[in-house]
Amino acid sequence: MNIRGRVRAGVARALTCVLVGIAPLMLAAGTAGAADTGAIGFAAGAEYIGEERCLACHKNENDNYSHTTHAKAFRLNPRNDLERKGCEACHGPGSRHANENYADKSLIVSFTREASKPGEIRGERGDAGNNGPVQINAVCLQCHDGNQRIFWRASAHQSNGLACTDCHNPMAKFSADGLQKTNSISETCYSCHQQQRMEFRKRSHMPLPEGKMSCADCHNPHGSQTKPLLKADTLNQLCYSCHQEKRGPFLWEHAPVRESCANCHTPHGSNQEKLLTTPRPFLCQQCHTHTTHQNNLLTQANTAGGAVPDERVIARSCSTCHAQIHGSNHPSGVRMHR
Ligand code: HEC
Ligand code: HEC
Ligand code: HEC
Ligand code: HEC
Ligand code: HEC
Ligand code: HEC
Ligand code: HEC
Ligand code: HEC
Ligand code: HEC
Ligand code: HEC
Repeated sequence: MNIRGRVRAGVARALTCVLVGIAPLMLAAGTAGAADTGAIGFAAGAEYIGEERCLACHKNENDNYSHTTHAKAFRLNPRNDLERKGCEACHGPGSRHANENYADKSLIVSFTREASKPGEIRGERGDAGNNGPVQINAVCLQCHDGNQRIFWRASAHQSNGLACTDCHNPMAKFSADGLQKTNSISETCYSCHQQQRMEFRKRSHMPLPEGKMSCADCHNPHGSQTKPLLKADTLNQLCYSCHQEKRGPFLWEHAPVRESCANCHTPHGSNQEKLLTTPRPFLCQQCHTHTTHQNNLLTQANTAGGAVPDERVIARSCSTCHAQIHGSNHPSGVRMHR
């Protein structure tokens, strides 16, 4: 299955439900399309009854939910009326669900595909005529619009029909932070991004599989102004945020470093040492291909055990002499030697 296929499956799983008698609203939401501006549809005539009533029947769910940030915030320090409504802040007014018929899935916002009314056609992407992710996101965005999500609308994830609940499950504390649906941020991302899972298994990688960083250290999954969802204004700014010594300023700059770290490094993983895209000396020879020692054809005979060992291939290859490859501050470091 390709990534979009996996997402469809994921989104389908999370497809929401809801709503009786709000066809006009749904249409309105439909036209607003993928913009997540859909009105939230609650069961017609339902009223808020307070979470005490919910707990009477949903003890198990509550046991798990009680450990989450929402439970603590809503119960101990609610900031407004909506938060005071507890379970109903997300699930909507529950009187008809509790009093009339709890088996009728259309009487409560449940965020799950199973809750679709029988016979109703649910699409995959939350555009016109199917209100899945649009509906879910509208519930969450009531309280979480802005901040990190300032670029959510039109982000790669939003426009591909993802719902907040493709990454978050607020019903239990599965992850140490970020209220993820799996036990860690990276694991959640891997559920769709399998290529990156594979890349981080390569011999050289930053310590993400070791749990010392996560995808969210570099990407903002909620959207950003920098492709692809990067957390900084440019790729280099992102790298400088942890590798400050590469920022300089340098007396002698190496042009490709200033341009983009990705000229030589790949961020997720590489089978070359130091996350290099290509092994040395070929890495350097991609650009340095005029005359002199940079350009000589180097063969297996030039390796350490070969007939004519050559220091341009041995050990760190070109960097054996050009050691300050990211830039030099030495007065005579023009060739990046020192
Ligand atoms: C009288 C008992 C009772 C009360 C009160 C009650 N529920 Fe339920 N609820 C149930 C039962 C039983 C189910 C499972 C129905 C099924 O799977 O057929 C359920 C299912 C649900 C579901 C899942 C629906 C789905 O699509 O799987 C949600 C969400 C829910 N309840 C939320 C609430 C909230 C919020 C409240 C308080 C406003 C509440 N319930 C009050 C008995 C109750
Ligand atoms: C912050 C929003 C939020 C709050 C608050 C909340 N829920 Fe949920 N609830 C959800 C979402 C989202 C799902 C769907 C989870 C998923 O993806 O499976 C859900 C699912 C459920 C389900 C379906 C079964 C399940 O566990 O997946 C029940 C029942 C339920 N909630 C009851 C409750 C009750 C009872 C409370 C209050 C004690 C509550 N919820 C508070 C968002 C919320
Ligand atoms: C009624 C308001 C409200 C609604 C609706 C709501 N939240 Fe929250 N959420 C909060 C508050 C309050 C916090 C506590 C942190 C804070 O102050 O922002 C919070 C925290 C979070 C956190 C951080 C939790 C942590 O442990 O780090 C996540 C993730 C989150 N919400 C996701 C969601 C999702 C997904 C939905 C929709 C299913 C949702 N929220 C619906 C008010 C809300
Ligand atoms: C692609 C996965 C993904 C999607 C989709 C997603 N989130 Fe998140 N969210 C995350 C991750 C990962 C974090 C933790 C970020 C961190 O720790 O820096 C997070 C953190 C949060 C937080 C806590 C930090 C903060 O911003 O205050 C909130 C609240 C939140 N998300 C709400 C939402 C809402 C609302 C939606 C839907 C509009 C949503 N998320 C959609 C992955 C996602
Ligand atoms: C439910 C599936 C799903 C999950 C979970 C998910 N993504 Fe995505 N992601 C997508 C889809 C779909 C795209 C668009 C892919 C495409 O256009 O080929 C995408 C695109 C991206 C892109 C590229 C954006 C661009 O501008 O090209 C990045 C970066 C990304 N996701 C990071 C993350 C991170 C980080 C997480 C975890 C916090 C995550 N994703 C979780 C489905 C998902
Ligand atoms: C050290 C920072 C960093 C970390 C950690 C990171 N990424 Fe990236 N990611 C990048 C950069 C930089 C790019 C852009 C690469 C380019 O333009 O050559 C990128 C690109 C992407 C893309 C777009 C397609 C591609 O491969 O170029 C996706 C999807 C993505 N990352 C997902 C993830 C996921 C999922 C994780 C966690 C498992 C993750 N990234 C962890 C920095 C990072
Ligand atoms: C959130 C912090 C963070 C960001 C952002 C970051 N790195 Fe790293 N990077 C690390 C850590 C931690 C290590 C491991 C350092 C160690 O083992 O001493 C590392 C190691 C490396 C290594 C050495 C790998 C090896 O095999 O020894 C390279 C190369 C590297 N990073 C390049 C980059 C590039 C290029 C970017 C920008 C796309 C980037 N880093 C962004 C934290 C970060
Ligand atoms: C012209 C190619 C090239 C570019 C562009 C480049 N690097 Fe490197 N980088 C290398 C080489 C070669 C090594 C291995 C050096 C060695 O063996 O001593 C390396 C090693 C590293 C290391 C690990 C060892 C160390 O010096 O700390 C980090 C971290 C790193 N680079 C970060 C970056 C960052 C951040 C950028 C962008 C600002 C960048 N690199 C741009 C070629 C490059
Ligand atoms: C993406 C292209 C690119 C790559 C890859 C690259 N360089 Fe460069 N390098 C340049 C450019 C452009 C300059 C600046 C040339 C100028 O100012 O005339 C430069 C300058 C230099 C200089 C200083 C030359 C001078 O005339 O002052 C040295 C030494 C050097 N590079 C060595 C290396 C080594 C060693 C590697 C491999 C680790 C490498 N370069 C990889 C593009 C590259
Ligand atoms: C044994 C040490 C050594 C090794 C190994 C080495 N260089 Fe050099 N390189 C030098 C010296 C010394 C200079 C300065 C020559 C001068 O200033 O006239 C230089 C100069 C350069 C220059 C500047 C332009 C020129 O030709 O004068 C480039 C570009 C360069 N080297 C690239 C490379 C590349 C690419 C490799 C790997 C294939 C490499 N070097 C391996 C010592 C080395």
